[in-house]
Amino acid sequence: MNEGETESVKSLYHVLGAKQFDREELEQLFSSAKAMEVVAGEGGTQRFPNKIMSTLFFEASTRTRFSFESAMHRLGGRVIGTENASQFSSAIKGETLEDMIRIIAGYSDLIVMRHTDIGAAKRAAAVSTVPVINAGDGSGEHPTQALLDLYTIEKEFGGIDGAHIAMIGDLTYGRTVHSLSYLLANYRNVHISFISPENVRIPSYVKQYLEEKGISYEETLDLEGIAKTADVFYQTRIQKERFPSPEEYAKAEGKYIIDRNLLNTMKDKAMILHPLPRAGEIHPDVDQDPRAAYFRQAVNGLYIRMALIEKCFE
Ligand code: CP
Repeated sequence: MNEGETESVKSLYHVLGAKQFDREELEQLFSSAKAMEVVAGEGGTQRFPNKIMSTLFFEASTRTRFSFESAMHRLGGRVIGTENASQFSSAIKGETLEDMIRIIAGYSDLIVMRHTDIGAAKRAAAVSTVPVINAGDGSGEHPTQALLDLYTIEKEFGGIDGAHIAMIGDLTYGRTVHSLSYLLANYRNVHISFISPENVRIPSYVKQYLEEKGISYEETLDLEGIAKTADVFYQTRIQKERFPSPEEYAKAEGKYIIDRNLLNTMKDKAMILHPLPRAGEIHPDVDQDPRAAYFRQAVNGLYIRMALIEKCFE
């Protein structure tokens, strides 16, 4: 049973956080995503013609919302929802998240939600009568992003065991690195280098989890120092909107940029990932290099989300 579920909803399959996935489930999901690549390539299927997915987004999104909606359409289902839910839903009149979820669950078969608050997806799942997928909860987690990140590594490298992954940038507020770290704990002999400005280091609760799982990691300020050895460079945006003050943001902004100079020191078989959007931390000069995998990574989000939707309806 997912953490936070109540007795009444225990048979539902929610996607709330990355820790819920074990290796077997990841392998099944990647196999399913691979099959979805074929389905999407053929234009889709009428697998779920009577299902309705709600998208409830309290924070801005391009990739997550569009890829979830595209995934549902490719599977033959229908989509209702709102972006900017804090303004365009009855949240603005004071309706609680719990009440809103109870209502929306009565209108649809699946809820995909992005919220400003850590733990909001778990709160939603606790009262929902349909599956809930966490599409990002503040600076907490973004499990479906991490799943597509890992799928991209698996697809392009043929495996994840033994990989050296560098996570770069805003490791405090960047929820994708939290979820990706948790997923990597399922693999053997991985090593994670966390590279960040001092004021946005990886949280201690993420490090504690990695230690409990026996995962090797280091923290460093020196991106050039690991450029020759890392297999995957997971660059992230400094999350300006989450900083307590402009002064704190200024301390972190612009410190780590992947450009052609850095690219020249990387392995020939390295891979550059980014959950996107970017805000200057990967120079556009890098885009044409075959090691720049971030646009391919975003497309993989469609296949992973098709696979997740299918799993929610099993
Ligand atoms: N990677 C990601 O979550 O992108 P969006 O914010 O555009 O959904």
